[in-house]
Amino acid sequence: MTFKIATIEGDGIGEEVVKEALKVITAAGVDFQATKFNLGAERYLKDGKVLPENELDALRKFDAIMLGAVGPPIGSTDVPAGLLERGLLLKLRFSLDLYINLRPFIAPKGSVQEDADFAVVRENTEGTYAGEGGLLRQNTPFEVATQGSVNTRFGVERCVRFAFQLAMKRRKHLTLVHKTNVLTFSGGLWQRTFDEVSKEFPEVKTAYNHIDAACIYMVEKATAYDVIVTDNLFGDILTDLAGAVTGGIGLAASANLNPEKTGPSLFEPVHGAAHDIKGTGKANPLAAIKSAALMLDHLGEETIAQTITDAVTVESQILATKDLALTTSEIGDRVAERVANANNSN
Ligand code: IPM
Ligand code: MN
Repeated sequence: MTFKIATIEGDGIGEEVVKEALKVITAAGVDFQATKFNLGAERYLKDGKVLPENELDALRKFDAIMLGAVGPPIGSTDVPAGLLERGLLLKLRFSLDLYINLRPFIAPKGSVQEDADFAVVRENTEGTYAGEGGLLRQNTPFEVATQGSVNTRFGVERCVRFAFQLAMKRRKHLTLVHKTNVLTFSGGLWQRTFDEVSKEFPEVKTAYNHIDAACIYMVEKATAYDVIVTDNLFGDILTDLAGAVTGGIGLAASANLNPEKTGPSLFEPVHGAAHDIKGTGKANPLAAIKSAALMLDHLGEETIAQTITDAVTVESQILATKDLALTTSEIGDRVAERVANANNSN
């Protein structure tokens, strides 16, 4: 079967890292056909379009979407704040019902939390990201802004259940992260749902951390984590921190999943467009390559996915310990070679 993959290279280093990810899955022998979608800041500046309906409809027909990075250079005022985030990235997450944002971390030796190996399951369609709220009396001394957090029983339950299922495939330990001592309404819903769903998974050991405490554990003993489940905003913040202590954001991969596969899922590195290093060869493609591995896993190619993940882990270890000054494409070549060799020896 030929996988139909849509690519949204986006802006800045997006194109460079997606290219390496495709190089690696080609080396792995994956049968696929890639189709480019020109979306992001550059496209917006060209014709004022962020994500036209017909392009969204076209994307629905693919097996998966690979995204590089979207965003204008920092400090640029040409693209209104939030336009691409809400109009493109979040629009895709919501329209395609990508309700899980799965972010696995494996820390190489030498990183702050070396040997940590855990995954964050971030709810991806609700919380403060849902867009609830508004402004009153804007630009007056009496301006009011509200930004609510939307938490539905249905949305929380499907996310929590996914996290338990993932924990069953891993070390059978799941930590709920929230702020139930202050956010008693949303936190209460999360905690009750978590406790109820946990009864379906008696083998999974559970724990609870407040988000602030989780930040301390993340930099002091992240090795204790196996799977973490949390809401959209806490997950956003915690996974940047997790990236920073497990080898850097250049390694952090993510899968925006529609687990029921009623449409394509979207795979992207956690990092941004990094316009400052575009074209310098300094972009680390490992996060994009690892995201491609998450894609193959979702598409049912678990063995190839594992081979690629292992190759990335080995390569990230080498990059962390040896000063090889490798370029983006050299790193891609090395991972591709490792993957091809692993295939040949099987
Ligand atoms: C991420 C990003 C996005 C988010 C932004 C770009 C909308 O930070 O994927 O973590 O906040 O989810
Ligand atoms: Mn983020």
